[in-house]
Amino acid sequence: MAQRQSLILIIGLAVILTLLNIELSVACNPAEYKTGDECCPMCSPGNRVYKHCTEYTSTSCIPCVGSTYLDKPNGLTACIQCSYCDPGFGLTVKHPCTPTSDTVCKPLEGFYCTDPYKDGCKVAQKHSSCNPGQYISQKGTTSRDTVCVDCTGDSYSNGSFTSCQPHTKCENLNLEQITSGTPGSDSECESPAFPTAVVASVVVPLIGVILVILLILRFTRNQQRAGSNEPTLSPDPTTTISLIESERPA
Ligand SMILES: *[C@@H]1O[C@H](CO)[C@@H](O)[C@H](O)[C@H]1NC(C)=O
Repeated sequence: MAQRQSLILIIGLAVILTLLNIELSVACNPAEYKTGDECCPMCSPGNRVYKHCTEYTSTSCIPCVGSTYLDKPNGLTACIQCSYCDPGFGLTVKHPCTPTSDTVCKPLEGFYCTDPYKDGCKVAQKHSSCNPGQYISQKGTTSRDTVCVDCTGDSYSNGSFTSCQPHTKCENLNLEQITSGTPGSDSECESPAFPTAVVASVVVPLIGVILVILLILRFTRNQQRAGSNEPTLSPDPTTTISLIESERPA
């Protein structure tokens, strides 16, 4: 009985050891990759496999060219295409692609990242703009949207102020209020005495009319004076009569 038990134990152990041995031969060490039955040395970052190793030769590697990269030791036969920073996703280049590293993108000016990735960004969105009646509480950054806050009380902002401004008090300026302030706009005031509109539409034409009347008066007076001088230039009618009388035969 004891002999049979130890036999089973030995066979069991042999099976386990065999399985372990197979497992060990399947796995390659961390600096190697498996291809077929071989464990081949990996290519260094920036390079890819050109020819796998054989029993007699080591792996043959060549560099990544064009817009391709490999950022880890590898057993790959093709390099990976570099990422494109798509302006349609609100992105621009932060670090260009190299044979050993992918392109790193960042948000465009006026955008913030909604999908951060490592030290870069995969998708960005435009900063919100605040509405009239709101002020910019926190300006947008590359990682955060603008923060807008409503104006309260007797103050306003057109949406681009960094704080709400108090409404202008027309009566404190001795002016008349023509529109009252809203959260989005200031009150509007007007000067009650001699508004420039009145000066322009009444006083200026009035001066013009007076000048024209004065000119007409002076012209007609000159005409009258010229008319009264005319008879003195013609010969005296009494002299003419006396001359005619002297020619008559006595
Ligand atoms: C708000 O007012 C400022 C200065 O008064 C002006 O420069 C800006 O264009 C205005 N913004 C809007 C959205 O009307």
